[in-house]
Amino acid sequence: MDTQALLQEAQNFQAENKEQLDAFKSRFLGKKGVLNDLFANMKHVAPESRKSYGQEVNAIKQAAEEKITQYTALFENSDSKSTPDIDHSLPGNWMPVGSMHPVTLVRNEILEIFSKIGFSVAEGPEIEDDWHNFSALNFPPEHPARDMQDTFFMDHEAAFALRTHTSSVQVRIMENHKPPIRITAPGRVYRNEAISARAHCLFHQVEGLYIDKNVSFADLKQTLLHFAKEMFGAESQIRLRPSYFPFTEPSAEMDVSCNICSGEGCNVCKHTGWLEIMGCGMVDPQVLSNCGIDPETYSGYAFGMGVERIAMLKYSIKDLRLFFENDVKFLKQFGNG
Ligand code: PHE
Repeated sequence: MDTQALLQEAQNFQAENKEQLDAFKSRFLGKKGVLNDLFANMKHVAPESRKSYGQEVNAIKQAAEEKITQYTALFENSDSKSTPDIDHSLPGNWMPVGSMHPVTLVRNEILEIFSKIGFSVAEGPEIEDDWHNFSALNFPPEHPARDMQDTFFMDHEAAFALRTHTSSVQVRIMENHKPPIRITAPGRVYRNEAISARAHCLFHQVEGLYIDKNVSFADLKQTLLHFAKEMFGAESQIRLRPSYFPFTEPSAEMDVSCNICSGEGCNVCKHTGWLEIMGCGMVDPQVLSNCGIDPETYSGYAFGMGVERIAMLKYSIKDLRLFFENDVKFLKQFGNG
């Protein structure tokens, strides 16, 4: 084999496309390529010529490899150039992003308002025992809320139930923490009620609890006024109507001035100018001692509000069931945090 001719062939090689390069590769470096033949031929070369023969073959190999590297790089680059240019003026693909559920948005807003004035967030279980949901909170054994009508009991002895309110978290926190206590407790609550536009068997509450020395009803009133102004606007007013809860004394129902008609009277506030948004009161001394806190030293207030109710007022939603239907057309109208 003429090594000089092969060296020249390798050195002069030019490829116009990948096919030519591939053919060149297999002619020189393939299994049955010339270089394998040349190396195999080594044993037939006279011993004194072997050295120079070896050098010539290596030179061919090197020349072939250089060409291959050079053209491989060239065709790779031109490959990417041959893909069509991107038209940046075309509208992009629509990527739907999820949005926060209105109940989540309003819950977060409530927690944020209270966290700015020193309330931390506590949580408790949704399956509660009688003590935390009822007894520690002064519900007498014959209280109607214990009736099967209102509560989803887990067993026939009524020892466990789906909690009917987040006030159960008050008990858990007071049992395990020393005052001062300042917490909010958000979460799901359950009631055995017929589902309608105004009631559901599942909804969300945010509870508030503040226990310290010398906490008074005036502190409660001022905290709730602050909350109403932050939540519904600086013009908002509140009013407290006497009410009853077994675990607070005195107890009140809090109304906020209707932010839709500014108190003039409209359909939403049923022409009263006021909207009821939560229950509240001073923690009953008996509840404090049930939970191991000395009522002679400490006093405190508690409040509990329905998150859906506040979301309905804030977003003018007329039917509570919409929150649980997961209709994307409804859900995507709210913030996209
Ligand atoms: N737990 C009461 C309810 O569900 C609300 C409430 C909480 C009232 C705290 C007073 C104090 O209606």
